[in-house]
Amino acid sequence: MTTNRTFTMIKPDAVANGSIGGILKMINEAGFRIVAMKYTKLSADAAGKFYEIHKERPFYGELVDYMSSGPIVAAILEKENAVADFRKLIGATDPTKAEEGTIRKIYAKSIAANAVHGSDSDENAQIEGDFYFSWLERF
Ligand code: RTP
Ligand code: MG
Repeated sequence: MTTNRTFTMIKPDAVANGSIGGILKMINEAGFRIVAMKYTKLSADAAGKFYEIHKERPFYGELVDYMSSGPIVAAILEKENAVADFRKLIGATDPTKAEEGTIRKIYAKSIAANAVHGSDSDENAQIEGDFYFSWLERF
């Protein structure tokens, strides 16, 4: 298992309000190397599959609708301690609770439309990266 990689998405709200550049700048400046990247849109089916682990949570329907509402940027990122360091860079799920200087504190509108996704474990980083990218698309 690759332990120095994580997976991220810039979510529809952040894409729509012109924050792709600002968010990528913060990711680069924090020392993450881009291994793979794609500008794409999830169908409702694909969003449902991606977030299957949250199927029983009360916000699942809202989450699937939101994540399939517009284009996203998906990427695999590389850095030592990537998963934990990226979760630190993005901040808490709820932007009102996110630390100053984190991506969500700066760019997120709400707990649901929270600008970015970051994998929560090495295992999920692998699964999520595989969901979007073939081995030919990783550099
Ligand atoms: P993510 O997976 O997107 O990096 O976010 P996370 O780990 O910080 O949060 P998680 O618990 O995995 O939730 C996944 C996404 O579901 C939406 N959510 N909405 N309305 C709500 O109460 C609520 N709670 C979570 C957010 O978009 C969250 O990022
Ligand atoms: Mg999560």
